[in-house]
Amino acid sequence: MRDRYARNITYLRLSVTDLCSLRCRYCMPAGGVPKRDRGDVCSLEELVEITQATVDCGVRKVRLTGGEPLVRRGILDICRGISAISEVEELCLTTNGAALSQLAKPLREAGVDRLNVSLDTLRPDRYAYMTRAGRLEEAFRGLEAAAEAGFTGTKLNVVLMKGFNEDEIPDFVSLARRYPIEVRFIELMPIGEGGTAQFLPAQAVLDACPDLRPAEGSGVARRYRPPDGPGLVGLIEPMSHRFCKSCDRIRVTADGKLKPCLHSNQEIPLRGLHGEALRRAIREGAAAKPERHHMNETGRSEAGRNMHQIGG
Ligand code: GTP
Ligand code: 5AD
Ligand code: SF4
Repeated sequence: MRDRYARNITYLRLSVTDLCSLRCRYCMPAGGVPKRDRGDVCSLEELVEITQATVDCGVRKVRLTGGEPLVRRGILDICRGISAISEVEELCLTTNGAALSQLAKPLREAGVDRLNVSLDTLRPDRYAYMTRAGRLEEAFRGLEAAAEAGFTGTKLNVVLMKGFNEDEIPDFVSLARRYPIEVRFIELMPIGEGGTAQFLPAQAVLDACPDLRPAEGSGVARRYRPPDGPGLVGLIEPMSHRFCKSCDRIRVTADGKLKPCLHSNQEIPLRGLHGEALRRAIREGAAAKPERHHMNETGRSEAGRNMHQIGG
């Protein structure tokens, strides 16, 4: 499935809920998600049908997102349903880790291949402040449970924020010096609750740790290797257009709208469509992908939704 700019679309990011167990300040409104905004979410059957249709159009990698995908009732059935689609080569999930201590093993058994875990600080007091609800200990326990369940290739997602976690960059990089994990620093995007005041360029990581050596890139991340350890350090710099030109992804929101681009307000409703009509809507949606976002010019995402309603 190719778009107008000859990009090959092979990656589906499927949001299964816009709810979350945490309330990260840059993502969720303080009062949580107002009920009227929730809308109807796709059923298990709809999610599997939509995924199968994207696979028929060429998708080979599926990532479940949220909100927080692990708060969705029936998440294990969803994982089983999607991993049973034989053409899906990789089923991944992005999580805040809070429920992983209980769910890591069942997720593995339900066919999930790989996890990305969001963790913006290694200090309990800062974690409680930023998430407004979470306990760092739970996220750590979740990471341990993931390793025990046999997950490999787990990545940590750290959103860089000036005045919040910039002094922790060396501590996060130390994790890649000690463990075979990839620690990825993400530049804060001006979407939803995320503003520009706390923006910290990813270059800050290279300034803080000048011994990092360039390694082969992967997906949206520019990668580096610490000379003294088994892990990797990734830099995700959405504000530059570095990865728009090789973008290979489409998104489907929990309420069944195809989003050709994270930062565009284009949405194609998929619910109620079946068979060839569903596949046609997916192909037309993918073809309509904009060339790139315009956050640099406007200072704001045009997504028309909060991050927790898209899944990143
Ligand atoms: P891998 O499969 O491990 O490469 O994961 P991933 O980077 O595709 O997924 P993840 O959910 O971990 O996303 C990491 C960060 O990259 C999040 O902050 C996302 O919002 C951001 N991101 C992912 N895709 C895009 C994209 O197409 N455009 C922009 N601007 N940001 C993206
Ligand atoms: N800018 C950058 N990353 C964000 N995420 C959520 N909101 C933002 C934002 N405004 C991240 C989460 C998670 C991933 C899916 O998106 O921390 O790691
Ligand atoms: Fe939840 Fe992730 Fe948003 Fe934090 S960033 S509130 S963990 S969806």
